[in-house]
Amino acid sequence: MTKAIRFHQTGGPEVLAYEDVDVGAPGEGEARVRHNVIGLNFIDTYHRSGLYPLPLPSGIGLEAAGVVEAVGSGVTEVKVGDRVAYSGGPPGAYSEERLIPANKLVTLPSGVSDEQAAAMMLKGLTVQYLIRRVYRVEKGETVLFHAAAGGVGLIACQWLKALGATVIGTVSSDEKAAIAKAHGCDHTIIYTREKFPERVREITGGRGVPVVFDSVGKDTFYGSLDCLMPRGLLAVFGNGSGPVKDVDINVLAKGSFYVTRPTLMTYTAQRSDLEASAKELFGMVESGKVKIEINQRYDLADAQQAHRDLEGRKTTGSTVFQP
Ligand SMILES: NC(=O)c1ccc[n+]([C@@H]2O[C@H](COP(=O)([O-])OP(=O)(O)OC[C@H]3O[C@@H](n4cnc5c(N)ncnc54)[C@H](OP(=O)(O)O)[C@@H]3O)[C@@H](O)[C@H]2O)c1
Repeated sequence: MTKAIRFHQTGGPEVLAYEDVDVGAPGEGEARVRHNVIGLNFIDTYHRSGLYPLPLPSGIGLEAAGVVEAVGSGVTEVKVGDRVAYSGGPPGAYSEERLIPANKLVTLPSGVSDEQAAAMMLKGLTVQYLIRRVYRVEKGETVLFHAAAGGVGLIACQWLKALGATVIGTVSSDEKAAIAKAHGCDHTIIYTREKFPERVREITGGRGVPVVFDSVGKDTFYGSLDCLMPRGLLAVFGNGSGPVKDVDINVLAKGSFYVTRPTLMTYTAQRSDLEASAKELFGMVESGKVKIEINQRYDLADAQQAHRDLEGRKTTGSTVFQP
């Protein structure tokens, strides 16, 4: 038996239970991975709350790093003893050991630690696809990134800076503004007390930005559109404040805007995309251009508290669990 966090009904953090599980042997195409470090992501709260429904009872968690303990038949991507990490389903990363499709695993280079990998695989690959593939940010461009001091946010600020972009970031407090600034955010806006569309116009000399990366969702959607230059792109990639619903498509006519609702799952569905994207992320980390800031650590058994802190906006940067 090994330990895992599971939930039998959707709800608040209290539904997360620390249980004994029997992992079993890997089937065809699967690997058994022993986790050394596990990552916390906001999507875990959507699974737990039921915003993204899962068959119940369910495991939870999509990001971890560890060692391959066994492989099933037909596995070519990894071998026993490999140091690996992953970002993706099925949910079940909050566990000491698990089975996972081997084609989700990426072997780690020596320059990337298990802790770094567990803290960045999902968040860093998200930044890669957002700023390199959803919208290829070029040197000299000014872009807006919401929740700039969060897990995804701090990686984005540094990577955008390395590309030569000017970064405008929103945050909810002065403390978070200081953290975002220390990671390459040129202009911070405290969107809980300032009108961020007005500030973006001020900062850009009235022009607006070509792209807004918005993971806050409900509370920022219309404001984000107001930050765009004509024909600009709004990438809504999360629901931090709740999902965006019931939008009249005619709001886009204000500036012939584009809106996309991208997911990491789509952008890494092909193994070749996953490998290329991970290689680029590892390169950014190994070169020191992107530092992975692990600002919270919890024991796996304390997953309830970790969820409370993440949803309560108390965290910055990445958060990891020790199994
Ligand atoms: N579509 C994708 O492929 C994809 C992949 C990865 C992540 N995401 C999304 O990206 C976002 C960031 O993920 P993360 O794991 O790095 O989390 P995070 O940014 O570390 O935490 C979420 C942040 O959202 C902000 N926020 C704004 N309104 C909020 C509210 N009402 N309640 C709670 N938080 C609020 C908070 O920052 P402030 O206090 O500064 O406002 C909070 O710290 C999440 O929305 C996640 O779902 C999407």
